[in-house]
Amino acid sequence: MLILGLESTCDETSAAVVKDGTVILSNIVASSASMHQKYGGIVPEVAAREQIKVIIPTIEESLRAAGIKSQDLDAIAIAYGPGLIGSLLIGTETAKALALAWNKPLIGVNHLIGHIYANWLAPVGISNFKFQISNSPKFPLIALLVSGGHTDLIYMKGHGNFKWLGGTRDDSVGEAFDKVARVLGLKYPGGPEIERLAISHQRLEVSKFKFPRPMAGSGDFDFSFSGLKTAVVNLVNPYTTTLSPSRKRGSGFSTESRITINRAEVAYDFQEAVCDVLIKKTFAAAEKFGVKTVIVGGGVSANTRLRERFNNVENTKKICVLFPQKNLSTDNGAMIAAAAFFNQDFVDPLKLRADPNLYFDFTETVDS
Ligand code: KG4
Ligand code: ZN
Repeated sequence: MLILGLESTCDETSAAVVKDGTVILSNIVASSASMHQKYGGIVPEVAAREQIKVIIPTIEESLRAAGIKSQDLDAIAIAYGPGLIGSLLIGTETAKALALAWNKPLIGVNHLIGHIYANWLAPVGISNFKFQISNSPKFPLIALLVSGGHTDLIYMKGHGNFKWLGGTRDDSVGEAFDKVARVLGLKYPGGPEIERLAISHQRLEVSKFKFPRPMAGSGDFDFSFSGLKTAVVNLVNPYTTTLSPSRKRGSGFSTESRITINRAEVAYDFQEAVCDVLIKKTFAAAEKFGVKTVIVGGGVSANTRLRERFNNVENTKKICVLFPQKNLSTDNGAMIAAAAFFNQDFVDPLKLRADPNLYFDFTETVDS
């Protein structure tokens, strides 16, 4: 089954052709991230205008790169939420129009579930079906979703069987990365910048910053990252702190009692605090539900240190931990096509509406 997956929930516009939910024939991603850099975050109006400009060329390119024509498609899948309303409207209305014009079934996908399904995608060029089956995640499993807007733990017993266990009560991990990067004078998006800076830090002694690990011992599956973010913001106070190696913040003020802190050390310690919390909660969920597989998805799952730390636990606890390929951790159309294939929630193109607040279904209860 060939599905055209469309993703336009935020600042990426992506179209992908995926076979049977696992084999990527093409995955074209256009991003307006660089246009938002001077504002230090996404400007929704700018993102939506860019979506309009690039969505049709992106779809055309995805068909060309896959070597197929629109007639060859079996269905069109669209991420209809959550996200920015302007960006979502461009994608959903385009998908609806194409479904009607090409006479193809339309499948609505929750963007968050798309991130989870990035773990079912085989690398481009690998079309050995046996290889994919043996490497696809085994149920039951725990999925950790760490994106720019969300941090959630989900228990999955099978395809389409999602039970939400908990989520952040305030900021998402991605937001914390982006804000911390900003106070350290790094550009948007902050996650990859923090990662790069942290790598440059040679840890020689125990952390002197002692950042909090919020809710690590709360006994539930909820998260909180605003306290950790604020701890860094308060430390990097421009009136009392000089950053080294120097970068904007901290310069320009001169007080007698300024302290000098190393930006790379802050980045490193912040990242460790995040990893500690995510690991503790995720493996506690794996233990409680007796699962042997953990999958991670969302933009923050591109983080190398997070991957390393999770893989270390994998070795000690004998739980299989899977991450998507790095380029499939952040927003892309292929993950939307994968989620569509395994869930096949067909919708009437005349009825589908973009839903900026779409989330998980809380009505289901966890029965084990
Ligand atoms: O999933 P995503 O691409 O978009 C949303 O659905 O929100 O996630 C974007 C988030 C941003 O906060 C970005 O800073 C973060 O993912 N991110 C990373 C890395 N790459 C992207 N965070 C940490 N390390 C990375 N390497
Ligand atoms: Zn996303």
